[in-house]
Amino acid sequence: MATQLKWLGHGSWSLKIGEHNVLLDPFLNDSPTSPVKAEDVEADFILVSHGHFDHVADVASIANRTGATVVAIYEIADWFAKNHGVEKTIGMNLGGTAELPFGKAKMTLAHHSSQLPDGSYGGNPGGFLLALADGTIYFACDTSLFSDMKLIGAAGVDLAILPIGDLFTMGPDDSIDAIKLVAPKRVAPAHYNTWPPIEQDADAWAARVKTETSAEPIVLEPGETIEL
Ligand code: NI
Ligand code: MN
Repeated sequence: MATQLKWLGHGSWSLKIGEHNVLLDPFLNDSPTSPVKAEDVEADFILVSHGHFDHVADVASIANRTGATVVAIYEIADWFAKNHGVEKTIGMNLGGTAELPFGKAKMTLAHHSSQLPDGSYGGNPGGFLLALADGTIYFACDTSLFSDMKLIGAAGVDLAILPIGDLFTMGPDDSIDAIKLVAPKRVAPAHYNTWPPIEQDADAWAARVKTETSAEPIVLEPGETIEL
């Protein structure tokens, strides 16, 4: 079966990859747009891009209930293990690849910040390039535009997930340039419409993607699923 991606609102995603349930940046119980609660999701791996509350809020409770392995930059993996009793963690760093049972996860550069909710140092923020049996997904996660996105896309990206909310990340204008650099086959927006400061018109964004880039835009509502 093809990999299924469900948008859980904001920067949160749930992936069904073969027999594996993989979460990215679960921010569910306090998110105004999440269609699910942390108590109701399954996971055997949880990928964490950086330390901000809107990316780590529900990681520990889900990991401790499900036994999922938390995959994050070294400092954040260590923080979950030492401060939140998460038993299984994989600490990595930018440019490294973790070979996981569902595929390869490379931690990519992101230009952002990454303090953890209690003020702890969260290391550098990152994104994830997932090389799966049925394709490649690039989650830019929270970042500004940067020209090295061209290198990330060089190997061929089937689906890119880019932030478009502006204020805390790149906005729609810079996302168009990001799409040109990454050159994915398809692209979906994230990290917008969670709160008023990051409201965006996703349909207007999609129209621009169609006319200004070679990628096919996919606009999801929280809770909707696409196939890779
Ligand atoms: Ni952030
Ligand atoms: Mn964020």
